[in-house]
Amino acid sequence: MAKDPVRVLVTGAAGQIGYALVPMIARGVMLGPDQPVILHMLDIPPAAEALDGVKMELVDAAFPLLKGVVATTDVAEACKGVNVAVMVGGFPRKEGMERKDVMTKNVSIYKSQASALEQHAAPNCKVLVVANPANTNALILKEFAPSIPAKNITCLTRLDHNRALGQISERLSIQVSDVKNVIIWGNHSSTQYPDVNHASVKTPGGEKPVRELVSDDAWLNGEFITTVQQRGAAIIKARKLSSALSAASAACDHIRDWVLGTPEGTWVSMGVYSDASYNVPAGLIYSFPVTCKNGEWSIVQGLPIDEFSRKKMDATAVELSEEKDLAYSCLS
Ligand code: NAD
Ligand code: LMR
Repeated sequence: MAKDPVRVLVTGAAGQIGYALVPMIARGVMLGPDQPVILHMLDIPPAAEALDGVKMELVDAAFPLLKGVVATTDVAEACKGVNVAVMVGGFPRKEGMERKDVMTKNVSIYKSQASALEQHAAPNCKVLVVANPANTNALILKEFAPSIPAKNITCLTRLDHNRALGQISERLSIQVSDVKNVIIWGNHSSTQYPDVNHASVKTPGGEKPVRELVSDDAWLNGEFITTVQQRGAAIIKARKLSSALSAASAACDHIRDWVLGTPEGTWVSMGVYSDASYNVPAGLIYSFPVTCKNGEWSIVQGLPIDEFSRKKMDATAVELSEEKDLAYSCLS
């Protein structure tokens, strides 16, 4: 029997990421090849005509799984009955800007959209915040939508996770699909800590630790980390625009694994509400290693943390606490 359609909201749908993301959703990349979808696309009035153009293209693409399209500048209409909300709307970072610079513009959007989701989304709606500062926007959304369970509000660090897998695969000249269990700890910013201490590679002789195969600790503890931390800025420098196709693809990976589950023995990185696991202060949206089953994520517990990692995990937590304070000062 055919499944009922799932309603997926994409805010900022007329923007760059939106343009890459909506066809992926309509093709089943996010929710699976047998899951019909109804797309809800929100943008602001100056982008209304462009949004209509995207809607025309979705119709023209004749996606078999796409059962309807709502394109609107009305937040309440956009949020009505949605089961998944991908929050991309906001103002992107330009060359030379730090994420903090975009804070003022973006947190007030997330405060008001929190109320709309709370009032109009389907019960148990899963929310993914992509727009920067992603962790802090997600925290603001959580705090101003108190009836949405905290476990339903997440932010995107899967792009950083995928970037880390990509760097290891390039270094070892192996398939990216043979690398697993890197971790992104903390903020989706240049203080994030990409950690390979528990990562492994599938080889003909079985699984081997990344640290055994890449025997260059100086690279793993230095250039590898900074390359992943600075990748967003490198793409802005090269394209004069921030990453879009990789961000859209990572958003699909995030929701797919959350809804359909992570493969046995594999974890992924998600920005989730901290419960003080690994002594990360509770009350921050912080990126952890998680496994997902039956539509719920759980933080991977019990990984040994060395002193080098501890310092980096703490530094990114400090930045998130500062961002939280700054966000509240922008809202007051
Ligand atoms: P963009 O400027 O191309 O698109 C953003 C869209 O949001 C625009 O169409 C704009 O009109 C719309 N918008 C602005 N205010 C809105 C509101 N109140 N409601 C609905 N829509 C609104 O930007 P982009 O390149 O698509 O990037 C979007 C966001 O994603 C940026 O904040 C960017 O920094 C962030 N980003 C995050 C990651 C990540 O990994 N977390 C990766 C890449 C980009
Ligand atoms: C990215 O990581 O590509 C985005 O968050 C864009 C940025 O501002 O770095």
